[in-house]
Amino acid sequence: MDVIQKIGVFTSGGDAPGMNACLRAVVRKSVSIGLDVVGIRRGYQGMIEGDFVDMDAKSVSNIVQKGGTILKSARSKAFRTVEGRAKAAAHLKDAGIHGLIAIGGDGTLAGASVFYDEYQIPLVGCPGTIDNDLFGTDETIGFDTALNTAIENIDKIRDTADAHDRLFLVEVMGRDTGFIALHCGIGGGAEMVMIPESLTDLDEAKHHIYTLMSSQHRSSIVIVAEGDDTGGATQIANVLKADSAFENIDLRVCILGHTQRGGAPSARDRVLASRLGVAAVDAMMAGHANVMVGIVNNEIVLTPSRNVWSRKKSISYELLGLIQILS
Ligand code: F6P
Repeated sequence: MDVIQKIGVFTSGGDAPGMNACLRAVVRKSVSIGLDVVGIRRGYQGMIEGDFVDMDAKSVSNIVQKGGTILKSARSKAFRTVEGRAKAAAHLKDAGIHGLIAIGGDGTLAGASVFYDEYQIPLVGCPGTIDNDLFGTDETIGFDTALNTAIENIDKIRDTADAHDRLFLVEVMGRDTGFIALHCGIGGGAEMVMIPESLTDLDEAKHHIYTLMSSQHRSSIVIVAEGDDTGGATQIANVLKADSAFENIDLRVCILGHTQRGGAPSARDRVLASRLGVAAVDAMMAGHANVMVGIVNNEIVLTPSRNVWSRKKSISYELLGLIQILS
C-alpha cells in the first residue's frame, strides 16, 4: 500500500446539511498533519471525469454554516459500471491520490465497497444523509437539521389546520425508513405516524383518523413517510376521500419534500460533522480502509462499509409506542 500523502474528498448522493462542515473538518485536519487534499466535484461522477480541485485550509473558510455542498453532489449511473470505475481509478492514479474520504449515504458507501474491492484504494466514509438510515452511527449528518426544518413546518401547518378544523396528511422524506417521520411525529405532536417499518392497516387507520376527527380533535396531523407501504400522503388522501364517512371531513395534503434537505445546518449537525470529518482522517492515517466512521453512545466507532449498507438500522419501537400514548 502506498504511503498516504495526498487524499481526495467528495460528497455524494442526496446532499445533507452539515456536509460542508464535515468537508471543512476533513480538509483542516489533513492540512494540520501535512497531507495534500484534493476536492472531487460531483461525487463519483467527478471522479470519472477527473473534475478535481486542490484544497487548502482557506478553501473551506466560511462554509461551516452553509447548507448544500460546495463540492456539489451527484448520483452517478456511470460509476455503477466497470468501465466507469476504471476511468475513476485512472484519474485518481494520475493525480497521485492515495486515499479517499466519502461523505454520503448508503449508495455512496455501497459504491465505495465495490471500488475498494476492485482497486484497494483506502476509503473512509462519513455518514451524510438526512434519512439517518445508516447502520454504524446513532445519527447521520443532516438528520437533526432536516428534522428541525420539518417540525418548524409542521408547527405552521398546525396553525392553519386548527383555524379550519382540518385534517392534514403531511409527507416527510424517508425513502426506505421512517426516522424523520417518527421523530417529527413526537416533536410535532402528530396524531398518527405511518412509516415503512410498520405495515399500515388502512381500515384501522381510517377508523382511528375518523374517531379523532369526530371526537376529541377538531384538527389532526398525520405524518406519512414517503416510503410508507401505502404509497404516500396523496394515496392515503385519495383512499379517505373515496370513503363516505369522510364526506364532511376537510382534508389537505402537504408534501414537505426537498425543503428538508436545504438550509443552514443545526449546531448539533455542525458538531457531529466536525467530529466525524476529523475522525475519518485519523482512521485513514491509522491504516483503516473500507470503513465508515460513526458515533455510537458518544464514542467514535468504525464499521466496515459493507455492513453499513447491507445491515438495516432499526427505528426505535419505544418511540413508535410513544405516538400512541401521546396522541
Ligand atoms: O437520500 C435522502 C433522500 O432525501 C430520500 O429520503 C429521498 O427519497 C431522496 O433523497 C430523494 O432524493 P433526490 O430527489 O435527490 O433523488
